[in-house]
Amino acid sequence: MYDSGKIITGLIIFVVLAFFPVLYQTIVVGEGSVVPEPLLTETAKKAGVCIETKEFMKTQHMKLLDQWRNEVVRDGERYYTSSNGKEHYKSLQTTCMDCHYNKVDFCDRCHNYMGVTPICWDCHIEPKEYK
Ligand code: HEC
Ligand code: HEC
Ligand code: HEC
Repeated sequence: MYDSGKIITGLIIFVVLAFFPVLYQTIVVGEGSVVPEPLLTETAKKAGVCIETKEFMKTQHMKLLDQWRNEVVRDGERYYTSSNGKEHYKSLQTTCMDCHYNKVDFCDRCHNYMGVTPICWDCHIEPKEYK
């Protein structure tokens, strides 16, 4: 015969264990400390690669943008050849935001988490958010 008491106890233990990571994350750690995952748009997914490697972009995108701006504004240099040989038009709006047009779910996700607020959008036009 089945011992329903043991089965139920077993089920409860199983459920608690199975959801432990979620419970721990929400109750003990708190939502705020979950490192956000920047979302890729369909355009970005299709392209598969960024201007440079993901690791490079993660840590150097601000420097790359700064470099692009200086070269465009001071020298009128409009094309960037990435390390894989591909040419890119040096533009925040026309190039970066063409793939990453989900600013809120991409750029802002990281920036809010890190507490940085780039002022670029005071002058540069924000992409119209997809939904
Ligand atoms: C052709 C489409 C395309 C363009 C243009 C593009 N990206 Fe990306 N970007 C991607 C893709 C795809 C990834 C993910 C790459 C991977 O997973 O290897 C990515 C990754 C990144 C990451 C790292 C995200 C992470 O999860 O760590 C940053 C930051 C980034 N891009 C910023 C930029 C900036 C800034 C520009 C303009 C200078 C730019 N991208 C231009 C497609 C693009
Ligand atoms: C993987 C996380 C991540 C993503 C995605 C990301 N950023 Fe950043 N960004 C950072 C971090 C972290 C810093 C701050 C670096 C520092 O303070 O040294 C930063 C800084 C910057 C800065 C310099 C800000 C300043 O005030 O000096 C610019 C400009 C910038 N990001 C643009 C972008 C744009 C545009 C996108 C979307 C296309 C983007 N970032 C996506 C993490 C990210
Ligand atoms: C005070 C207004 C202003 C602010 C703030 C600003 N820019 Fe610009 N930016 C300009 C102007 C004007 C140009 C010249 C446009 C041109 O020649 O196409 C430019 C050009 C650029 C270019 C090259 C051309 C292009 O189409 O993108 C890049 C890259 C750039 N800015 C990046 C940035 C980044 C990154 C930030 C934030 C850290 C920023 N800018 C903040 C006004 C501004």
